[in-house]
Amino acid sequence: MGDQSSSRQDTQTLGPHRQVSVMDELILKILWDLKKEDFETFKWHLNKEQLEGCEPIPRGRLEDQSRPGVVTLMKDYYGDQRVNITKEILKKISRNDLVERLENGQSRSKAASPLSSSHQGPDTGNKKLAQRIKEKQKPSLEDKYKDTPEGFEDSGKLNPLNNIFTEVNIIEGDSKGVNDEHEVWQIETASRKQRKQDTYIKCNDIFKLLSGQTITIRKVLMKGIAGIGKTISVKKFVLDWATGKANQDVDLMFVLTFRELNLIKDQQYSLLGLLQEFHPETEGIENINLNGYKLVFIFDGLDESKLPLDFQCNKILSDVKKTSSVDVLLTNLIKGNLLPYALLWITSRPAAAKKIPLGTYIG
Ligand SMILES: Nc1ncnc2c1ncn2[C@@H]1O[C@H](COP(=O)(O)OP(=O)(O)OP(=O)(O)O)[C@@H](O)[C@H]1O
Ligand SMILES: [Mg+2]
Repeated sequence: MGDQSSSRQDTQTLGPHRQVSVMDELILKILWDLKKEDFETFKWHLNKEQLEGCEPIPRGRLEDQSRPGVVTLMKDYYGDQRVNITKEILKKISRNDLVERLENGQSRSKAASPLSSSHQGPDTGNKKLAQRIKEKQKPSLEDKYKDTPEGFEDSGKLNPLNNIFTEVNIIEGDSKGVNDEHEVWQIETASRKQRKQDTYIKCNDIFKLLSGQTITIRKVLMKGIAGIGKTISVKKFVLDWATGKANQDVDLMFVLTFRELNLIKDQQYSLLGLLQEFHPETEGIENINLNGYKLVFIFDGLDESKLPLDFQCNKILSDVKKTSSVDVLLTNLIKGNLLPYALLWITSRPAAAKKIPLGTYIG
């Protein structure tokens, strides 16, 4: 079994309050990039002895295990060796491209770590600036989301969101068969009536893994029919953060709607420019190394998107200061080329969810 104390060594502080195992997130990202058959072969190898002193994981524990479940098992069984074992198995299944990606991710996380001595100087300044921006952003978002229109948006009357909000039943959706091969989780906004067999999560827990909650889900796709409460859940999530009620480990939040993005779809922006366009209160973020902070991006209403979302042909972009089309920015953010540690929540009516297609996250 992995040694608990040593397996904690790769836990880094990302942002003032965030404790997260970067290694687990890296491995999870790699596993999501494996096609179903390759993932099954990966699990088969985990049942064989990999490195001396590392116990194989029993087959019974691996069967039917999801990718996040496998990450948790690897941490339990292999501790600090889990990255090396991941590399060994990836080589065996001829995915040297992913070995390289894992290694790049490891060096990037070391470079981005505020614990890294080479970053001591600039980080101190950045932290103060980030704190100032956060202090400015919270009241601004509180103001924006504290009241919500009664009924559908055109009634004109505003109500305090906290008075009208009833918790929405969110269930883990049909990830099997539909989106099993990439890392967007399907979460379905179920009807308000709770079914017994389902496990429900609250909107404030949207990024937490249902079992154990030790791993953060990086991307969530929330599907639900018109009027079921997707937008209102987004607003409540943001309001609860802005008023200090939940998710206080998050440093900054960016909320964009596809309706608004449509209006600028033919313009050129850098990611930082785009964010400041929608969130002017974050003026100055260009001076922060955003990879060192916990960021949440919410994109509401994928069904309204007029962006091509061309995951196949769009060029790769990893520089947040480089100007490009809005479509390139978005596809690279979703793929994880831009801000690989940022959390993403996309909402959509069910039929439009396929605009983020299968198997396009590799690369
Ligand atoms: N959980 C809830 N608590 C209180 N009111 C709700 C809730 N869910 C929905 N409503 C009411 O229904 C209206 C429509 O909800 P919302 O805008 O969140 O739907 P949606 O899922 O985003 O729909 P669309 O697909 O059309 O964007 C809200 O303005 C609100 O009045
Ligand atoms: Mg909506």
